[in-house]
Amino acid sequence: MRILLLAHSYNSLTQRLHGELAARGHEVSIEFDIADSVAEEAVALFRPDLIVAPYLRRAIPESIWAKHTCLIVHPGIVGDRGPSALDWAIQQGEAEWGVTVLQAEAEMDAGPIWASATFPMRRGKKSSLYRNEVTDAACRAALEAVERFAAGGFRPTPLAEAKGRGQLRPLMKQADRTIDWQADDTATVLRKLDAADGFPGVADQLFGEPCHLFDAWPEGRLTGQPGEIVARRETALLRATADGAVWIGHAKRKDGIKLPATLAFAAEAAAVPEAPLDGLFAADHATWQDIRYEEAGAVGFLHFEFYNGAMGTRQCERLRDAFAWARTRPTRAIVLMGGADFWSNGIHLNLIENAESPADESWANINAIDDLAEAILRCDSHLTVAALQGNAGAGGCFLARAADLVWARHGAILNPHYKNMGNLYGSEFWTYLLPPRVGEEGARAIMQHRLPMTAQEAVARGFYDACLAGDPAAFRVDVARRAAELAASANFAERLAAKGAARARDEAAKPLAAYRAEELVHMKRNFYGFDPSYHVARWHFVKKSLHSWTPRHLAKHRDLGWRAPA
Ligand code: COA
Repeated sequence: MRILLLAHSYNSLTQRLHGELAARGHEVSIEFDIADSVAEEAVALFRPDLIVAPYLRRAIPESIWAKHTCLIVHPGIVGDRGPSALDWAIQQGEAEWGVTVLQAEAEMDAGPIWASATFPMRRGKKSSLYRNEVTDAACRAALEAVERFAAGGFRPTPLAEAKGRGQLRPLMKQADRTIDWQADDTATVLRKLDAADGFPGVADQLFGEPCHLFDAWPEGRLTGQPGEIVARRETALLRATADGAVWIGHAKRKDGIKLPATLAFAAEAAAVPEAPLDGLFAADHATWQDIRYEEAGAVGFLHFEFYNGAMGTRQCERLRDAFAWARTRPTRAIVLMGGADFWSNGIHLNLIENAESPADESWANINAIDDLAEAILRCDSHLTVAALQGNAGAGGCFLARAADLVWARHGAILNPHYKNMGNLYGSEFWTYLLPPRVGEEGARAIMQHRLPMTAQEAVARGFYDACLAGDPAAFRVDVARRAAELAASANFAERLAAKGAARARDEAAKPLAAYRAEELVHMKRNFYGFDPSYHVARWHFVKKSLHSWTPRHLAKHRDLGWRAPA
């Protein structure tokens, strides 16, 4: 079928659905929901059999739904309606939640139901639940609805007959989110911060200044006077609740951008006592720790839970130190686990935007991430694995490829290209790592097309090595089992020797330093050159500027020469 995805933006759910539908042979094109007339034009050009709206912030115009079947993906259980579905579910402690696919009609979210799926809730940030459970359930339900539509003869269930326990709920306002630091216990504070994570955050104050808070993590030992900022560690501030304390990872000041909390309030945070960890990297589950090392037999697991997968200069340096330290352990394999939601999205665009000289900070950051990639590439003591539980984008995809093996979770979405960020050339040794896997032509196509890839597709193209279980817990078990087998394999010594020999051959043919220098010539031009595209694109990205048109690489129907078959 020809399926038009109508979406507020090309977010991770839309990317995943795009990949899943295309893999099933559908012809998919995308249009951003900018104005009724623009959507109408897209429908006229593409003449879709079906319209699917994975992520919309307003109703589809009658001119479209009256003539075409439009399936809306709503992140709520059957009967749930309103714009803050997931926020209410988290804040009210629902044990089970779901996604409903319903047909657009005059009343928002009140059309007949084509499919639904549910999932157990867990403690987690809204953004994390959205990228994992909601996205999985949305894909299951949307694909089922598409199949039902394609088969014909399916009668969707009118809302009144559906017997869901959901209800119409209003937009959640800041007044509903307010934290009472004197009275709210840790669990309540976490629920409020989790329900607002990603966007819009909880309006509050730090050091007497108004700001929005994000990225909360529970603390198991330290506490203080309720409301007081008790301690700092790396990027986070610890604030006492009525019965404990929570770490606040990120804050956004009035008219500012989202930044690590200790940077958003740099001057004030400097006076707060530091709470260093007992062991530098050894896992301590009772507190917040962005880089965490665990060991099982001959395998070391390095977790790096960087918010949004963004890796600033210091984070890259600390991770490189942690990797060097992991190499001193009596193990045989090191698994780079990344974070639960993202493995890495490359250099930290918000920190760069905030720097006095964004060009200098871009330069420092790309060199720091290249140093990290080089440390992984040059590791001759261990076999290395990148295990992608979550999504990866831009330089993060190639940083993962620096490991000997890359295993991605089914459902992870990858964006192994840079051009969307103002025609950035990219580094992280992509010119060394990509072509041998996918061929020169394949590498050019990936970089030019700028499209996301599902984990299955990345393996099919030869870019990554394996696509493992979709359930995150099952994925981690599978990774641990495979890594243990790798470390215990009878031919481990031969494998390590072969890896060393291959690296030496490659180095003789063209040194890593040459690849890096060539890439950095282009990057220097992107950062310091005459063309400001990268700085402009980054500004729009961190400021979250609204789209005024759909990029041509997504809106297939707007390609010159594209014609819908009669
Ligand atoms: N630096 C800082 N923040 C980043 C980031 C980066 N490199 N990559 C993603 N983020 C943030 C986004 O701003 C967003 O922030 P929010 O919590 O305030 O909403 C969050 O991570 C999620 O990103 P989003 O774009 O909503 O996710 P997505 O799944 O729709 O798209 C990407 C994923 C990777 C395609 C997209 O985030 C992207 O293009 N990132 C930039 C990659 C890049 O160019 N890196 C620099 C070159 S190495």
